[in-house]
Amino acid sequence: MHNHPKHPLLQSLVNTLRDITLSPLVFRHTLKEITKILLYESMRTFPMQLKSFMTWRGEQHVECIDESQIMVVSVLRAALPMHDAVIETLNLSVSGFLGIKRDENTHKSHLYYDRVGDCSGKTVILVDPMVATGGSLCDAIEILKKKGAEKIISLNVIASPEGIATIETMYPDVTIYIAQIDERLDENKFIIPGLGDAGDRAFNTL
Ligand code: PRP
Repeated sequence: MHNHPKHPLLQSLVNTLRDITLSPLVFRHTLKEITKILLYESMRTFPMQLKSFMTWRGEQHVECIDESQIMVVSVLRAALPMHDAVIETLNLSVSGFLGIKRDENTHKSHLYYDRVGDCSGKTVILVDPMVATGGSLCDAIEILKKKGAEKIISLNVIASPEGIATIETMYPDVTIYIAQIDERLDENKFIIPGLGDAGDRAFNTL
């Protein structure tokens, strides 16, 4: 299932990313701003728990999100600014990292690094700016499920209709929060109009 919040602020921020003169700093900053909006949308119905605090008026019970049950997982490398945005907000969550790279010729994704711990009982917030074929996201979801993730929420900036359809067919229990759905994939499986290589643009990789 996917959720596509149609908000002018969100759309405007995504479209700003399409400007190729944007500096890497502003590119990363804009990715973070978009992520915070997607995170806000994705947590609308999150369960709250009572916590006891010593407040200035003595001990009080207040409702909070149990951040220790949340794991943030990013798909290297373009997702790193998004990861930063989520853990700035949910600073008690735990983190994991997956290195997944698409082969330039076959367009198939492959895993080269897995630094994700046990996900049992965890709600995983999975972040990656781009969903092209959906192969990288499928790989990531499969790994998280094998590690016991109870629930998976995916935050993504730009997707192709094909990529969204693939995830929805294969993983109907995963909710994708997507800022913008572009027109299509081209013959090289790049998103059109897209952004270019988000990882290169975020980190000025040559
Ligand atoms: C990009 C992007 C996604 C993936 C999307 O990463 O950040 O992870 O491609 O493509 P897919 O949906 O067809 O799998 P890339 O493989 O370029 O890795 P990089 O950021 O390390 O360059």
